[in-house]
Amino acid sequence: MAATTIPHEDGAHVYIGQPFHQLATPVAVLDDAALEHNLTTMAGWCRDHGVELQPHGKTTMAPALFRRQLAAGATGITAATPAQVRMMREHAVPAVQLANELVQPAEAAWIAAELAADPDFGFTCWVDSVAGVELLEAGVAASGAVVDVLLEVGSPGARTGTRTEADRSAVRAAVAAAPHLRLAGVCGYEGSMAGDRSPSSLVVVREYLERMRAAADELRDDVDGPVVLTAGGSMFYDVVADVLATGWPADAARVILRSGCYVTHDSGLFHRNSPLDGPDAPVRLRAALTVWATVLSRPEPSLALLDAGRRDVSFDQGLPVPLRHLARGATEPAELAGAEVTALNDQHAYLAVPADHSLAVGDRVELGISHPCTTFDKWRRLALLDARGQVADVVETVF
Ligand SMILES: Cc1ncc(COP(=O)(O)O)c(C=O)c1O
Repeated sequence: MAATTIPHEDGAHVYIGQPFHQLATPVAVLDDAALEHNLTTMAGWCRDHGVELQPHGKTTMAPALFRRQLAAGATGITAATPAQVRMMREHAVPAVQLANELVQPAEAAWIAAELAADPDFGFTCWVDSVAGVELLEAGVAASGAVVDVLLEVGSPGARTGTRTEADRSAVRAAVAAAPHLRLAGVCGYEGSMAGDRSPSSLVVVREYLERMRAAADELRDDVDGPVVLTAGGSMFYDVVADVLATGWPADAARVILRSGCYVTHDSGLFHRNSPLDGPDAPVRLRAALTVWATVLSRPEPSLALLDAGRRDVSFDQGLPVPLRHLARGATEPAELAGAEVTALNDQHAYLAVPADHSLAVGDRVELGISHPCTTFDKWRRLALLDARGQVADVVETVF
């Protein structure tokens, strides 16, 4: 038996080959088949819609999952911070999009030195101000490398990104005047415009993407080769493909999605708001990340306390969703209907259950999560379960 283990605070260990129902709880598990399904489904969707995928790596920060995303056809991995770029470089990611402004000259200098040393390293980052362009150029200049930049289109009241055409003209002029920067296209994040797929949100997102498209048309002549357009989290990539990827002459544009959460999908926010979930979806992503917990106490007929809390599961986009129940000593979980997590403490979940439910102290409960990013960052190691529910591997995160 392989020696890889998942150490827990209490000293228990998870061994390769161990069945999921014997793992010490709380424990985060990845369903390998569901992961593979999501990887191939998204890759196929991107192919069918003529877009590339550079999945956001901040979701998992798991090099083993980056490798699977790249093997499935991703053309790079997206980072949010210079430290994430470093981690990705350390794990041999061939191309990184820093989906953010790079305004720390020392970090820019490090990245430029990597580019100068490795002609195969692909790197792009975002710009949205003249001041930012000047800081980036100052950092890059010493290396002699040229850094590809994308002009960020923003929206009033939203996050980073130019607000007006006048802002965009000024930033374009600053890039043109910077000897070590090269304009590659436009970028933006529609996910900061809306948080659900209600009709009014879809209007806001489409209108924003249309402005991005217009900005790309504007600056096409400044760009050598196809103009890059990159947008797309895990909630609106259908609208992104529709607005940004259609109607271009051949080889005129490269549209790059950056969806991160699709890889595990979830049982909450993205279950309700993914283009690939719900009754009308052509094919559905599957929730691949869950957390198993044990019932510590059933002090009242309608209340059970579980041994997983804010340290273990996401709570920023909704509380966890009880999915299945495993009676103590059983090996086959059953659906857990009628139960609801009503609150979390650091290490406890409050589970409201029907008073006549058989759930007993020592039983286990599988919690679906809402928003994978904030569950991954709570775990240094997750158990990858094979089709028999046995630990096939240990997936490490590097936050
Ligand atoms: C700039 C940017 N791009 C892409 C993503 C990925 O979106 P999602 O988390 O919906 O997969 C994020 C997420 O926050 C983001 O901030």
